[in-house]
Amino acid sequence: MDRGLILGIESSCDETAAAVVERGSRTLSSVVASQIATHLRYGGVVPELASREHLRAIVPVVRAALAEAGVRLGDLDAIAVTSGPGLAGALLVGITYAKALAFAQDLPLIAVNHLEGHIHAVLLQERESNLSELPGGAADDSEAALALVVSGGHTHLYLAQPSGGTWQYSLIGRTLDDAAGEAYDKVAKLLGLGYPGGPWIDALARFGDPHAVPFTFAQIKTKAHLGGNAPRTKGAKTAPIANLDPRFLFSFSGIKTAVLRYVELHGMKQAAAARVPQMLAIGKPPKAKEEALKLCPQGTLDLIASFQHAVVGDLSRKAFGAAEAMNADRILVTGGVAANGELRERFTAEATRRRIRIAFPTLALSTDNAAMIAAAAWPRFVAGEFASTELTAEPGLVLGR
Ligand code: KG4
Ligand code: ZN
Repeated sequence: MDRGLILGIESSCDETAAAVVERGSRTLSSVVASQIATHLRYGGVVPELASREHLRAIVPVVRAALAEAGVRLGDLDAIAVTSGPGLAGALLVGITYAKALAFAQDLPLIAVNHLEGHIHAVLLQERESNLSELPGGAADDSEAALALVVSGGHTHLYLAQPSGGTWQYSLIGRTLDDAAGEAYDKVAKLLGLGYPGGPWIDALARFGDPHAVPFTFAQIKTKAHLGGNAPRTKGAKTAPIANLDPRFLFSFSGIKTAVLRYVELHGMKQAAAARVPQMLAIGKPPKAKEEALKLCPQGTLDLIASFQHAVVGDLSRKAFGAAEAMNADRILVTGGVAANGELRERFTAEATRRRIRIAFPTLALSTDNAAMIAAAAWPRFVAGEFASTELTAEPGLVLGR
């Protein structure tokens, strides 16, 4: 090993990404090709289209990542790739390409769980800032953390603990149905906002009254209530719930239905439908915020603000409650929804109040990227944990015990 250069490849959902990271702590390049334009008109990710777009993008994206980093394939020490969870066809594009590159270059291949990647986005960020503060210094990776992974596919709480050079994860809580980002996207869709909905709701929520609509979350009271069986939902497939404390379980499908009912009851449905083509035409948030504001009456802005206020409050209560229960004195918040402005403000304020440390990735590292995959692969590289040539996509891959 010379420089400890890992090429990371990520293709689990709707971003084709490649990055070169040195020793899990210095990002030399991070290239992300978003498919938003492809999926925009469908208001969600279409799996077949995602695979096709990954096929188109994978070679140029990897080339761009190498070129930006100023390295050749021969300079690399390993190739890391997301093996799951995610869309099977999408994952396979990255895995197949990574395997071929590893084989051709005679390099070790490292399989990374996408959720572990999101957690390492924060750790990478911390290591990078430590490196810049202390020349030659390494980050202190020895402390356990409560990690909230909150994205379009996941809302999971983990206790992450360093152990013999690598990390161990214990699942503390998760959603029983929709992920928080999924609720953002669905609510945005039914209000006629653009896709993905999270950034739009984030940009518009500050213009509404967060207390206008009193949304509440049903308390999930007992394990017996679930009959010991995981509900048959998409989220349920990715992790067992049997031994989880009900205080740390989430459920976001109720609030989505409550928003739908509110929209119907208050005659907001037609206006929402009329907004769809107008929103499509104005461009992206936060740039097109002024135009979007003109398309949203105050009642809609109040509904958006109230929805976000309720979701962020629920995420915060459970994450801080879990940190306290686990005796963790730091919280890492990561995944697409961690880009949310109100979430960052309220989590930071609560952390200050409780005298607990909090960390987020940069905005670019919050959503899907490959730098987090290369960073998560570094401890595995050092430990010699390599994937076999049989590596295949694991759409329902679970993280932790
Ligand atoms: O991590 P990510 O890029 O992909 C998944 O692994 O799911 O997360 C995408 C999700 C989408 O649901 C998107 O609406 C949400 O993250 N999101 C946001 C924001 N930016 C992205 N949600 C709330 N506020 C944001 N600023
Ligand atoms: Zn993700």
